[in-house]
Formats: sequence, C-alpha cells, structure tokens
Amino acid sequence: MKKRMGVLLIMKENSMKVMLEMSQGSKLSICQGDITKLDVDCIVNAANRSLLGGGGVDGAIHRAAGPGLLQECRTLHGCETGQAKITKGYNLKAAYVIHTVGPVYSGKPKDAELLADCYWNSLELAKEHGVRSIAFPAISTGVYGYPLKEAVPIAAETVWQWMKEHEGYAIEVILCGFDRQTCELYEEFLS
Ligand code: APR
Repeated sequence: MKKRMGVLLIMKENSMKVMLEMSQGSKLSICQGDITKLDVDCIVNAANRSLLGGGGVDGAIHRAAGPGLLQECRTLHGCETGQAKITKGYNLKAAYVIHTVGPVYSGKPKDAELLADCYWNSLELAKEHGVRSIAFPAISTGVYGYPLKEAVPIAAETVWQWMKEHEGYAIEVILCGFDRQTCELYEEFLS
C-alpha cells in the first residue's frame, strides 16, 4: 500500500506535525508539550517497575489523573521492564493510561531491545482495547538516562514498524516531546 508523507500546519501550543501517513488513515505525528493535556484515547506513562508513581512524566500523569489512578495501579502488582499494563485515565482527557517501564540506560545492547519492547507492547495493548489515538513520551530519556540521540530512532522505528505490520488497524500515534530538542530529533529522523 502506498505510504504518503503528510505535513499539517504547525499549531502554536502543543505544536503538532504529521510526519507520516498510511493509506488506511494511520498517522505518525510529533507534538511538543505536556502529554497530560492531549485529547487522545490513550497516553503512555514512562513508569517504574512498582507502578506506584514517581517523578517526571509519571508524576505529571498521576497528578493530572488524580488518586484513582494510583488506586488502580496498586491492583496491578508492578510491571517488568519492557512490558506494559493498562488502566483507566480518570481525570485525564485520555480514557486510558498505558504504563510501560523503560530500561535504565546501561549502554548494553539489551537496552535497545527493552526500549523497543516498551513501544511495541504498548501498541499491542492499545489495539486490544480499540485505542485509535495514542501519545508516547520519550521513554527512558529522563531519569533513566537513555541518550536522546539513541532513543529517538528506536522509538520512531519501532512505532513505524508496528504500524506497517498492522496497516489494517487505523491509529494515530503521537510522539510527544516535552522539549524542542526532542521534537527536533523526532522530526529529523522521520523526515
Ligand atoms: N509530558 C511529556 N513528556 C514529559 C513530561 C510531560 N508532562 N514530563 C516529562 N516528560 C519527558 C521528559 O522530558 C523525558 O523526555 O518524559 C521523558 C521521560 O522522562 P522521565 O519522566 O524521567 O521518565 P524515564 O526517563 O523513563 O524514567 C522513569 O522516572 O519519574 C520516574 O517513576 C518514574 O522511576 C521512573 C523513572
């Protein structure tokens, strides 16, 4: 099926740029801003193995979702690195939160496999729940120390590969960078 490059207008706040589109309507977009503000079916949380909250985007999502999120997370009994679990979104605009645990950067080849697993397993879980729009933060590139220049290609490539292998399932995937540098690296890699 022919894939088309599509670029929509860049909006101001939460600038959104569609980078890749597929004939079935699936899109891969980049957005700069706070993931908790996005009006999508699902946002992905860069959690830790306890799933009991933390700093960074994990803290922001729990603050925005409210206490119900932690209560539900408590019933999940943690999550292994590279795996993903789903909860409701509570006070978020998003109906769901998919919690995935990225690797703590060590420089070993396993890091890349585990980081790719986070994106792949989150998308598999999203599809199981009929999610049609999902936003990812740059998993592991904060506290877990994954160098952006190494993480961005893994994220973008894994998402694009999954979308190609599931062309019959129309979904919009948004790679949400919190800062300009992350977004520029996504745009550079995808264009
Ligand atoms: N919206 C979008 N992206 C965000 C937001 C936000 N509100 N807040 C932070 N980020 C970005 C960071 O700038 C970084 O690029 O999310 C990316 C991931 O950074 P972290 O949140 O530090 O996550 P990670 O590196 O995966 O480390 C996970 O940190 O917060 C704890 O409990 C978490 O122990 C876990 C660890």
